[in-house]
Amino acid sequence: PSGLGGGATVAVDHPAVVEPRLATPRRYLMCPPEHFTVSYAINPWMNPEVAVDTAEAIRQWDALRRTYERLGHTVEVIDAEPGLPDMVFAANSGTVVDGRVLGARFRAPERAAEAEHYRRWFVRNGFRDVVMPSCTNEAEGDFTWTGSLLLAGTGFRTDPGAHSEAQETLGVPVVSLRLIDPRYYHLDVALFVLSEGSATVAPLVAYYPEAFSPGSLRVLRRLFPDAVIATEHDAACLGLNAVSDGRNVVLPIEAVGLAEQVAQRGFEPHFVDIGELRKSGGGPKCCTMELRG
Ligand code: ARG
Repeated sequence: PSGLGGGATVAVDHPAVVEPRLATPRRYLMCPPEHFTVSYAINPWMNPEVAVDTAEAIRQWDALRRTYERLGHTVEVIDAEPGLPDMVFAANSGTVVDGRVLGARFRAPERAAEAEHYRRWFVRNGFRDVVMPSCTNEAEGDFTWTGSLLLAGTGFRTDPGAHSEAQETLGVPVVSLRLIDPRYYHLDVALFVLSEGSATVAPLVAYYPEAFSPGSLRVLRRLFPDAVIATEHDAACLGLNAVSDGRNVVLPIEAVGLAEQVAQRGFEPHFVDIGELRKSGGGPKCCTMELRG
C-alpha cells in the first residue's frame, strides 16, 4: 500500500528490474583431452593415485564444445600432444585482447612445453602480434579481461612481474589481485566475468571472497559493488570456472546456487559435467581460451 490513495490499490510485489542480457558471438580455442590424466600433483585437486577415465573426459569435453557451438560460438581446436596431460587447459596458454597475444610461461616444469605448442598455433593461424613473456604467466588462468580492465591474479602461479608485463604488452590497464587459498590457485577458479563493461556500462562479475587477500577483496568491492558473491559450495565445485557470453553462462552441474543467482540477474545457465577434468583442478573455463579481436 503506497498510501497515495485514490483509485484501486493493487499490492504488487515488484520483482527487481532485470536488464535484458545480450550474448555476443565468441571465438574460443580448445584442446581435446586425448592425453589427459593426472600423473603429477601441482595443485590440491590433483592426486595421481585417483583413477582418471580419459574416455569420459573426452565425452565431457565434447559436450562442452557442442554447448558453445549450439550457442552460436566458434570453436578452434589445437592438436593435443602426448606427454602433456594438462594441455586440455587451453586458457593457461595465452591471453588475447584485440588480436594481440601474450603467451604463457608455466610455473611447473611438467607444463612448460605447452606454451610453445600454443605459440606455434597462434603464428600458424594468422596472429601477427605474439609475445612470449619473461615472467611466469599462466595466461587466462590468472588474467581475466572485463572489457575495460585486465584483472590479474598472483599468489600461486603467475608472477606479479607478469602483471606489468601484460600491461605493457597488451596495452590495457591491469589490476593485481592476490589469491590466498591453494584450492583457488588461479584467478579463474575464484572469479569470472558475467558481462563485459564498456565506456558506459560497468562489468558484472561473480567471485568467491575468501579466495582473496583482505586488500584485494577491498579492491573487488570498490570496483564491483554489484558483484554476484559465490558461496563456498559453489566455489568448491569449481563453479566460478564458468564461461559467459554476456547472456549464456556455462558452468559445472554442481553449481546450482550460483546458477540460481545468475538467473536472477537475467543470465541463462547451461550446465556441463566436468567430473573428470576437475580431478586436475580444471573446469569449463580452464578448457576455453577466448580469442578476442
Ligand atoms: N592441472 C592444471 C594445473 O594445475 C589445471 C589448470 C586449470 N586451468 C585453469 N585455467 N585454472 O595447472
